Amino acid sequence: MPLMEPYRIKVVEPIPITTRPYRELALARAGYNQFNLTAEDVTIDLLSDSGTGALSAEQQAAGIRGDETYAGSRSFFRFRDVVTELTGYEHIYPVHQGRGAERILFSSLLKPGQVCVSNTHFDTTRANVELAHAVALDLPCQESKDLDSDHPFKGDVDLAALRAVLEGPEDVGLVLMTITNNGGGGQPVSMANLEAVAGLARAHGVPFFLDAARFAENAWLVTEREPGYGDQTPREVARRAFALADGCVASLKKDGIVHIGGLLAMRDPELAKRCELLLIATEGFKTYGGLAGRDLDMLAQGLLEVTEPTYLRARASATAYLADLARRGGVDSVRPTGVHAVYLNAGRLLPHLPSESFPGHALALELFLAGGIRCAEVGSLYLGELDEDGRMLKPAPYELVRLAIPRRVYTQSHLEYVGEVIAGIAKDPERVPGYRMVYAPPLLRPFNCTLEPLAQRS
Ligand code: F0G
Repeated sequence: MPLMEPYRIKVVEPIPITTRPYRELALARAGYNQFNLTAEDVTIDLLSDSGTGALSAEQQAAGIRGDETYAGSRSFFRFRDVVTELTGYEHIYPVHQGRGAERILFSSLLKPGQVCVSNTHFDTTRANVELAHAVALDLPCQESKDLDSDHPFKGDVDLAALRAVLEGPEDVGLVLMTITNNGGGGQPVSMANLEAVAGLARAHGVPFFLDAARFAENAWLVTEREPGYGDQTPREVARRAFALADGCVASLKKDGIVHIGGLLAMRDPELAKRCELLLIATEGFKTYGGLAGRDLDMLAQGLLEVTEPTYLRARASATAYLADLARRGGVDSVRPTGVHAVYLNAGRLLPHLPSESFPGHALALELFLAGGIRCAEVGSLYLGELDEDGRMLKPAPYELVRLAIPRRVYTQSHLEYVGEVIAGIAKDPERVPGYRMVYAPPLLRPFNCTLEPLAQRS
C-alpha cells in the first residue's frame, strides 16, 4: 500500500475510456508511434512528468495575483526571492523551459571543441551542447550499469573517470550534474558525489553547474538513503546541493510543479552579463524570460510546495508501489526505484524479440493496446545506432520502458489499473509482436519515426 495522497480533489477532468479496437485503429493511424496519439486516445498518460502536474489551490490563487507588467513585474520579484532563498545564486533568470536555459548557458560559456562532462546529459541538453559546437561526454558510475543492484546512488558520476578527463588533454568547459539522473533510470546523486565533483571542478578551474529539474526528488532520496542526512529536511539538502555548484539550469516543469517554466541561475557576474544578452534576444526581457507574470507567481508557490516532506514521501511511495505491482505481476524494473518514474525491463520480459524488433517500444505499445496507457521507450529505438534503411548497427545496452508519473495527478487506483495491465501482458509475453522501422528521420528519431508490427504469434 502506498501512503495516502496528501491532498483531495477539487477540480476533475474526465479521462477517455476506450476499447481495444479503437486503440488498434488509433495506433495504426499514429504510425505505431505513441507521440502521434492525441489526448483523446489515452486513458492513463505516463509519457512524461514534465508540465503535466496538477496545480494546488494556492498556486491557482497565486496565478490570479500574477502581475503582467512588461518589465519589473511584482511576480518576477516574488519568483526571484523564492529562488534566491533556495539556491543562493546572485543572478536569476526565468526562461520558458529547461532547454531555453541550456541553449543560453552553453552558447555563452562553451567554446567550440570544448567538452561538457556529465553523469548523463538529458537528450535536449546533449543537443544544445552540440549546437554550441562542443562535445557532450557522459561518465555515469559503474554501479549504474547493473539494473538490478540496490546501490542507493546510481546517479553518481564516475569520479575516477572525471578526474582523468580533467587532468587529461581535453579542454573541459563545464561539468554538469543531472539531479536526479533522468537519462540513467531516474537515479539520485549523493551529496558525497556532488561534494567531490565540486572539489575536482574547482581544483581545475572548470565551472560546475547542476541540471536541477528534479532537485527536490534528489534531495528526498538523499534524506532517505545517505548516512548523515536523515534528520535534515529536503529543503536543507537541496540548498546544500545548490551551494556546492556555480549555478544551475532547470526545467521547472518538473519540480516547479507548473505547466511551463524554467530557470537559469549563476554566481559569476561576467557570465551572467553574456547570458542576459542572449536571454533578452531570444526568450524575453530578464524579468519574464518568456513566461507570463501568472506563471512566475505559480512557480514561486510550486517551488515552496515541492520540498514538503509529506508530498515527497507520498510521491516516492506511489512510485515504489507501482514498481512493486509490476514486479509482482512479473515485470522487473530498474532498482532501486526512483521518484519520477518506473523503468520497466522490457528486454527481460520479451527475450523472443531481438533489439532490431525494438522490445522496449513493443512493450510500450502493448501497454497502450491493452489498457490505453501511454509511455516512452528508453532502448534501441531511442538510443540504438541504425543505418539509413533502419537496420540496427549497434543496439542500446538496455531495453527499458519509462512510466513517468505526473505530479499529484493519478491516484492509487489509477496505479493499480496500470499494475493490472502490466500483469496481464506478463501472463503471455510471447504474444507481444516486434516492430519494424518504416521511416526514421535523421534527428530526434523517437518523436517522428513510424513503424509497423511484425507478424504476431497466433
Ligand atoms: N533536463 C532534464 C534532466 C530533463 O528531464 C528535461 C526534460 C530537460 C532537461 C529539458 O527540459 O523539457 O523543460 O525543456 N525532460 C522531459 C522528460 C521532457 O519527459 O523527461 P524542458
